Amino acid sequence: MAGKLKLVLALATITTAALGAATPAQAAPNPGTTIVGGTLASTAQAPWAIALNNTASSSPNDQYCGATLVKANKIVTAAHCVARAMSSYTAVQGRDSLSETSVGRTSKISKIWKDPLYGQQPGHDVAVLTLATPFTGVATLPLETSRSADVAGARPTVYGWGNTGGAGPAERFQKVLVPVLGDSYCSRPDVYADYDYEADGEICAGYVEGGKDSCQGDSGGPLVLNGRLFGVVSWGIGCAEARKPGVYAEVATYASALQAQINS
Ligand code: ARG
Repeated sequence: MAGKLKLVLALATITTAALGAATPAQAAPNPGTTIVGGTLASTAQAPWAIALNNTASSSPNDQYCGATLVKANKIVTAAHCVARAMSSYTAVQGRDSLSETSVGRTSKISKIWKDPLYGQQPGHDVAVLTLATPFTGVATLPLETSRSADVAGARPTVYGWGNTGGAGPAERFQKVLVPVLGDSYCSRPDVYADYDYEADGEICAGYVEGGKDSCQGDSGGPLVLNGRLFGVVSWGIGCAEARKPGVYAEVATYASALQAQINS
């Protein structure tokens, strides 16, 4: 069951439309402004990075969540990103600045699958969407299938168009390296023990001292390790705060269910 405390925090912090689901994350200090402490990234170098826009977003260019192209017509995102009506979503590929609305390719969504255990059990924050117009010819990311990839000291990078906490341009595609801190770190009482951190389905990544993190609006986006989709941006308390790292859905844990949807 998603923790009561997490839900209370989510309800208390309405800033981005991405908070529409049972996301436990708090708002960053400066709403509307992607990734905290990162650097500009390029969708030419990360063509599989998808902006999952939604008409219910409070941001001017419908910025809402991230996703990852895993097949020409399939994207992986977070379950908490798919609570809206299917027709309200648009997947956007190849657009570094979301304000450049004529740049890149877009597709509507024709099918939504979300992990049926999401909201019933901790973790399971994963979904697979089918694109009405496949992004044919665009590079895809393979899923990480080994659970042993989630080891403290691994150095994945997270990508997104989410909140920067005021540091840097809004709506602009960014990336930041977030070292894996390990399940035992996030399970500590002074970290996320009270927030139902799920060691067997979540990845704990970021900095003990804070400063760099994913944030609101990055949810559903890719955490990439060794050219594979390692994690999906899921939640955190605040953004880039000390002892409150990012929590990512562990793709390897859900890989067989995800792959079945991707193949369908
Ligand atoms: N739940 C957020 C979203 O909907 C993502 C939060 C990630 N937070 C963090 N501190 N890493 O966009």
